[in-house]
Order: sequence, then C-alpha cells, then structure tokens
Amino acid sequence: MSVCSSRGVPTFRNRPIRVREDNFTSALTGLAARRYASSHMPVQIGAKSHSFAEPTGLLTDCHRRIEMFLGSLERVGALLEHPQDAESHAALEAALRYFREATPKHTADEEESLFPRLRDRNHPELEEAIRKLEALEQDHRRADALHADVDRLGRAFLQRGMLSCEAAQQFRRDIAELIGIYKGHIRIEDEEVFPVAGRVLSAAEKAAIAGEMAARRR
Ligand SMILES: [Fe+2]
Ligand SMILES: [Fe+2]
Repeated sequence: MSVCSSRGVPTFRNRPIRVREDNFTSALTGLAARRYASSHMPVQIGAKSHSFAEPTGLLTDCHRRIEMFLGSLERVGALLEHPQDAESHAALEAALRYFREATPKHTADEEESLFPRLRDRNHPELEEAIRKLEALEQDHRRADALHADVDRLGRAFLQRGMLSCEAAQQFRRDIAELIGIYKGHIRIEDEEVFPVAGRVLSAAEKAAIAGEMAARRR
C-alpha cells in the first residue's frame, strides 16, 4: 500500500454522489423557500422529508445531507494526488460549500434554538437527553475545526488541481475523524435527543424553533 493510499476509510463512500432537490426547501414557503433554494446546492436526502411542524425532523433531514456530503468528500479524498476531473471538482466544490454555509446554520439550530429549550424544561423524560447535550456541543467545536481544515485543503486542491501527498493524507485524516464524530453524534441526536424533544416540546415551542430556523436562511 502506498504512503498516500486512502484505504481504510470507506465508511460513507458507497453513498450516491448525484444530488437532486433539497427536501428542506420543500418545507419552506414563499420568499424564504426561494432564497434558500437560490443559495444552496441541490441535495438528495431520501424519500421522506419533514415540515416546519416537525423542526427536529428537519434537523434529521439535515443529517442525511451531512452524511451524503461526507461521502462525497471521502470519495474525492481518494483522488487528491491525481489531476482532477470535472465530476470530482464539482462534487468537492458542492460539499465544501455545504459544510461552509449550511452546517453552521444546523449547529445554530441545535445550540441556539433546540438545546436551550430542552435545558429550560423541567421534564423527567428529557433528563437523559439533556445530559448528552454538552458532549454534542463539544463535538460541534471539534467538527468546526476539522471542517475549517478540510475547507482550506479542499480549496487548495480546487485551485491547483492536485494536492501534495502530505496534504492529501491530512485531508483524509480529517475526513475520517469527521466521519467518526458524526456517526456517533448523529445517532445520539436522531435516536436519543430529537424523538423525546418531539414528544415533549409544545406546538408553540416547535413553531418558535421552526421560525428561528427559517430566519437563519433568509
Ligand atoms: Fe449536532
Ligand atoms: Fe445535528
């Protein structure tokens, strides 16, 4: 195996690279939808999408996009020491843009809209989920740093058409760590935090969260 081999980090690579309509867009209405659609790349996230009546469902939909774009980065990572083709260039550009523009909004949706409302609630069903929130926030900080490094290296690749062996290895290490973080992180949010939040939060609280999510995308 060459020192620049990317073998050993195959986790999301078998996911499809092709993308189509972003289902989050279909949950928006009017001007917010048009603005969101015009500023985001098209994305495939599977058959089911959620409405603003279920803001935690929208966050889960975002997780499917995160997984898909991580898969794109993982696939491109295997090609960084070679001259790029149009497909890998477009896939990398779209994935970098997604993590640069959309992921900070997703993090804010959780840290500024959802998590504080869970912490404010004195509800026994939420206790276990609330204990997980601090670790989730720490994951966000580590992922932010890794995304910044991936963005730096990915942009260098887009500009130069290739990366050095050392830079390509760093890119792949970053992606492998991100995949590891997101696997556990997304599982906890999707299976342990969002379901109980969906049960406990009132319709008014969900509407407030959804309104804040829409405002971040105007
Ligand atoms: Fe999160
Ligand atoms: Fe999340």
